[in-house]
Amino acid sequence: MKTKLSIALLTSLLALSPVANANLSVNVGAINVNPDNDSSKINEAPALGLRADDDTQLGITIDYALDDNWVLELVAATPFSHDVQGAGGLAGNKIAKIKHLPPTFLAQYHFFDATYKFRPFVGVGVNYTVFFDEEPSAALKATLGTDDVEVKLDDSFGFAAQAGFNYMMSENWGLHGMVSLIDIDTDATVYAGGSKALTSTVEIDPVVAMFGIKYKF
Ligand code: NI
Repeated sequence: MKTKLSIALLTSLLALSPVANANLSVNVGAINVNPDNDSSKINEAPALGLRADDDTQLGITIDYALDDNWVLELVAATPFSHDVQGAGGLAGNKIAKIKHLPPTFLAQYHFFDATYKFRPFVGVGVNYTVFFDEEPSAALKATLGTDDVEVKLDDSFGFAAQAGFNYMMSENWGLHGMVSLIDIDTDATVYAGGSKALTSTVEIDPVVAMFGIKYKF
């Protein structure tokens, strides 16, 4: 369903190509979000923590070249899904399943002359992450002694840094690879029977990596 939506989006982008200007390119490929789980604590108790696993989805990034060296990139993807596991004193317990969308907007500087096939780049930007469909685990419900359990994660706004490359194989087709560090911090709140049972700052701060094909209009 989500993949279908993205393919529909991509198809409409490609259909726009005759009117799209030559500064535009689209990258499509696998994108992986790998959370850094070192510093998340529950109720500020150092012995307790949360740990999210990594996930790979279909990534679509859109590049708009301002000139030969400066490019604006929008990173989009189908929604990521992570299992959140307990760490420290909560180790071995699945806490919840969460989904999120992390659109990121970056300004990139591309090295070398515009005629080069291989061009590395670096970028900085901002990220806005929306969490949704948070599902508490059976283990969490059992621990809290009720089925009336809700997990809510606040939206996150943070900075992103990026490095990558484009390799053009023809005038229109190429390869695109990038790695980004994104600052994603959220406040997680667990409600049991309608009242707050646990709060936690969750620093997801993932490494986001993408490899795919590039089409230049
Ligand atoms: Ni952070």
